[in-house]
Amino acid sequence: MSVYDKLTTFSWYLYSPKFYGEFWRCFRKQFDPTIPSYSMFERISAIKWCEERAVDSKSAFYKITNQRDYIDFLEEYKDVIEAGMNKEGFTREVGGAADLEFIYNISNYLKATKVIETGVAFGWSSLAILLSLKDRANSSLISVDIPYKGREDIVGMVVPSDLRAKWRLILKPDREGVPLALQSMDQLDMCHYDSDKTYAGRVSTYDLLWNSLRKDGVFISDDIGDNLAFRDYCQSINKTPIVFKLEENRLTRTKYVGVLVKE
Ligand SMILES: C[S@@+](CC[C@H](N)C(=O)[O-])C[C@H]1O[C@@H](n2cnc3c(N)ncnc32)[C@H](O)[C@@H]1O
Repeated sequence: MSVYDKLTTFSWYLYSPKFYGEFWRCFRKQFDPTIPSYSMFERISAIKWCEERAVDSKSAFYKITNQRDYIDFLEEYKDVIEAGMNKEGFTREVGGAADLEFIYNISNYLKATKVIETGVAFGWSSLAILLSLKDRANSSLISVDIPYKGREDIVGMVVPSDLRAKWRLILKPDREGVPLALQSMDQLDMCHYDSDKTYAGRVSTYDLLWNSLRKDGVFISDDIGDNLAFRDYCQSINKTPIVFKLEENRLTRTKYVGVLVKE
């Protein structure tokens, strides 16, 4: 980032008091030795970029589908979610859930049958996708994840056994797991990226997934406020994304999600 970019980003923060909390969190993370090559300025620039264009998730859904029917996933499936949250070992502090409502509704809208996701953790996004696929013939989900701290047993643990028949879980890092997934599935209806949050990791896997999407298929990336990878990727393929802000809920903190529709 140029000095000019850093200065404009910094002054944007100065005049945006509602982001002081976020700025403070960025500042502290800068000195956190457990986070490799953390760039405070890149993160705050990414948040600024997201904030300038973010709508809410319902509006993002409307922009893509022209439809107002938007099922409140957390309410509709509250019993399944409650059961998942009560599983031994579940904690809200690790591997925060994705934009479940949005991915469930988009998957329904697309009548998706071929879906790949990266990043499973406890399995909330897998659950949302599988609930959408459950009654759709010849549909399946492939998910890729490296087990958190080697704990294979917790990966996807909130997905009940009756939803697993349509699910293939590849326990490998993206760089091996995604090409493997794409060998058995292409012309994807939808893909959801929520794994390696580094710049380089995102850009290389974004490209594989984007190129495997069918016409009118939908690409979704979680946590795009972490760095500028999503912004730069969209520029590199000359696409204007839809960005929405996911407000904190029972399963996750506030974050930004990026969406691209293949033409
Ligand atoms: C935020 S969590 C995923 C949350 C999940 N999508 C949900 O909605 O519950 C991120 C996951 O990505 C996985 N992950 C991180 N880096 C990865 C990589 N390089 N390859 C594959 N998985 C990775 C982590 O193990 C973790 O389980």
